[in-house]
Amino acid sequence: MIKIDLNNISSASAGQANGLDDNSLFEAVDRFSGIIPLVLEEHSRGGLGFMNLPYQPKLVREIDAYAVKNAKKYDNFVVLGIGGSALGASAVHTAINTPFHNLLPDRKRKSPRMFFPDNVDPEEIAFLANNIDAKKTMFNVISKSGDTAEILANFQIFLKILKTKLGRNYRNNLIITTDREKGFLRKFADREGIKSFEVPQGVGGRFSVFSPVGLVPLAFAGVNNAKLLKGAATMDSACRNTEPYRNPAFMLALANYLMDTKKGKSIIVMMAYSESLREVADWFCQLWGESLGKRYKTDGSEIYCGQTPVKAIGATDQHSQIQLYNEGPNNKLIVFIEVEKFRENVKIPGMFPEQPEAGYLNNKTLTELLNKEKTGTEIALTKNGRPNYTVKMKNISEETVGGLLHLWEAATVFAGKLYGINAFDQPGVEAGKNISRALMGQKGTEKTSAEISGLAEKHSQKLVISV
Ligand code: PA5
Repeated sequence: MIKIDLNNISSASAGQANGLDDNSLFEAVDRFSGIIPLVLEEHSRGGLGFMNLPYQPKLVREIDAYAVKNAKKYDNFVVLGIGGSALGASAVHTAINTPFHNLLPDRKRKSPRMFFPDNVDPEEIAFLANNIDAKKTMFNVISKSGDTAEILANFQIFLKILKTKLGRNYRNNLIITTDREKGFLRKFADREGIKSFEVPQGVGGRFSVFSPVGLVPLAFAGVNNAKLLKGAATMDSACRNTEPYRNPAFMLALANYLMDTKKGKSIIVMMAYSESLREVADWFCQLWGESLGKRYKTDGSEIYCGQTPVKAIGATDQHSQIQLYNEGPNNKLIVFIEVEKFRENVKIPGMFPEQPEAGYLNNKTLTELLNKEKTGTEIALTKNGRPNYTVKMKNISEETVGGLLHLWEAATVFAGKLYGINAFDQPGVEAGKNISRALMGQKGTEKTSAEISGLAEKHSQKLVISV
């Protein structure tokens, strides 16, 4: 399903200065492999709830039945979520249904058009509100906490439209996915009798794609959730392997950790050679960044750790970012995502067989071109002492995408253990959220308002440049 080739992080490939020699790599595997049983133990004690998500056939059947009954009634499906409440579903939908799903005419499209407006950009929201037929749209409001400002703002905007157009029947066009007990949205859903799903306890936003957070929109999008979870379960059992070299998540986490801490690769670039996987790279950036970018270790000491995740798309970014990666500061680890067999095999027709500039493409396929470009980039980087590795997917399907996402979730947890930090909190996000609420005048934020008063004042007008 998925093959990981770490050879290009070795000193034999990337050179002594930037690669890891075999002895130090093997010694690190031995030294750190003890975190595998630690993770398994934490899970058996009831922690790491995301590891339960691949195994819930009853929930999948319930969600599928609901979607099958309802999806045909709607032309559009809008997810109102942000961060971990939106990125996972959007990534899987785009991978399985391709980025052009919404362009298909009704007769060819087997599921509603899908929208993930994960922002409060007034132009984007106004455009959607003004142009979407709310009566034919299902809105899925997703928020674990049930009180995220962006979600509550967009929710109110569309709720008003729904109530205006549908009156009391507005309920038919609304699903709420939130905590079982806590938060404003739970109270609202229970009071108003809105169809709702639960975000499981102990599962944070960025680890929740295989919960109703992802499964409900994906069922409406026509994705086969049973197969998605089957892929995740296959990967999960591999990621529980206590033999370290057979455990893909442990090996990925260790490779990234060693590259960061021993070789100064503080930037990790996920370069996916597939347009359908472009949002998987976005999802990865949030997962890796928000989970591992931490000031404190769990023992309370300061660490200021975390690789900066960057998204790149091959071959597009060969003509954009690769110059920097090949010749700029050698502080990056490139992670290639490669697809062995695409769902389409497009032949280049060879219109100019006699012309050497174009003739060499004669009768070749786009798969061949794309993957040879990836190999070319990989070799060029490696030759230049730029470490990289490849995660190769057999194809893009529910199974492989489920496996890929679970792989990175498990790797994130192992990496958290290696750094000695809590991968599941996000105090840096909360800090900004609290200040924004105070600036917007929420009741109860007076203390924060007092703390930040004056902080937005300008130190020098010379540093403000207007044209
Ligand atoms: O991964 C996370 O925990 C975050 O990105 C959250 O998903 C995001 O902040 C939205 O939070 P909530 O689902 O509570 O609205």
